[in-house]
Amino acid sequence: MSSLDVERIRGDFPALQRVVNGRPVVFLDSAASAQKPESVLRAMDDIYRGSYANVHRGVYQMAEEATAAFENGRAKVASFIGAPSRDELIFVRNATEAINLVAYSWGRANLRAGDVVVVSHMEHHANVVPWQMLAAERGIELRWLPVTDDFRLDLTNLEATLDGARLLAITAMSNVLGTINDIRPLADAAHAHDALVLVDACQYVPHLRTDVAAWDADFVAFSAHKMLGPSGIGALWARRELLEAMPPFLGGGEMIRDVRLDGFTTNDLPWKFEAGTPAIVEAVGWGAAIDYLEALGMDAVRDHEERLTRYALDALTDRFPQINIYGPQDVSVRGGAISFLFDDIHAHDISQVLDQHAVCVRAGHHCAKPLMRQLGVPATSRASFYIYNTEAEVDALVVALAEAETFFKV
Ligand code: ALA
Repeated sequence: MSSLDVERIRGDFPALQRVVNGRPVVFLDSAASAQKPESVLRAMDDIYRGSYANVHRGVYQMAEEATAAFENGRAKVASFIGAPSRDELIFVRNATEAINLVAYSWGRANLRAGDVVVVSHMEHHANVVPWQMLAAERGIELRWLPVTDDFRLDLTNLEATLDGARLLAITAMSNVLGTINDIRPLADAAHAHDALVLVDACQYVPHLRTDVAAWDADFVAFSAHKMLGPSGIGALWARRELLEAMPPFLGGGEMIRDVRLDGFTTNDLPWKFEAGTPAIVEAVGWGAAIDYLEALGMDAVRDHEERLTRYALDALTDRFPQINIYGPQDVSVRGGAISFLFDDIHAHDISQVLDQHAVCVRAGHHCAKPLMRQLGVPATSRASFYIYNTEAEVDALVVALAEAETFFKV
């Protein structure tokens, strides 16, 4: 039995009431972006209709209401991840921008030729390319932690890999494999080598209770749109002393304290890193998404996903003995993103047949081409689950896959 009242939850999501190709939609692509409940849509609509104004600028009532709502959104996001202070929570456009902020600001201020940044083979491009750009510009060395045959991080040579490192940049949950990485021991190992730790928590924060202090992380990147909130807003959390020492990333309004002909001084945290008009309404929507998740309880969210992932792994392997599943079988060490492939059927072909059944999955390299190369495949199909998915939807996936398999095998 699910720990969530999934039927009630489904009623809160207008997009899940859709019919596609004559069938009720089966939305299995929340790892790419999650659907939004009424309460998030309403919160955003309300502020546009009633209290909309730019923030931190006007002294009139509507501007004060908008500023309070925006900063209340920040407080909710900060508290949701256990941030010691809301001043350490920088709003950005998405997790990709958060990691780029660290690479541009901290990286360019601190890394020199020969310095080492450690990443892993299971990183999203967002946690690879900014470091490759820095490597090309500064001559830093990128070192890679490999993945084991059972799709976990291979820590055999962790100590040697961290030797001389300045930064370990690692995902908390792979968007392809679903693998959850145990951040605290990795952070301890990195800190023992005087390296900082950046966590790509984009897939983790929506699904598991997150405590950045318990991780002992230095930088954490994540976004709203995978956790029921709007697109266009994400966050970087970082320890205050790091943010205080880092130079600003983008220059302009809001991030300054003073500007003169001969230069500028920077604003306090967090605004020092928030140049220009921010995603005002999106911050409010993100706060509403957090209220929704908190009301369900993150332990119940995790429990539901573990059960559904177990059900899906069993259903897929029972029905299709020949299916290749790229990710751990043990659901206690993985999230609900299941990547799979049939020999001789391209992932895109599978997804097109699934679409005729109104089953939405992602197909492709999932912005993780280094991992795809390690797995020896060009692409996979990926079904991913969230609070609103049911066992009946997994059954619908299996039926649609059976049809795809028959279609392409004849
Ligand atoms: N990073 C997102 C995904 O895995 C977009 O689909």
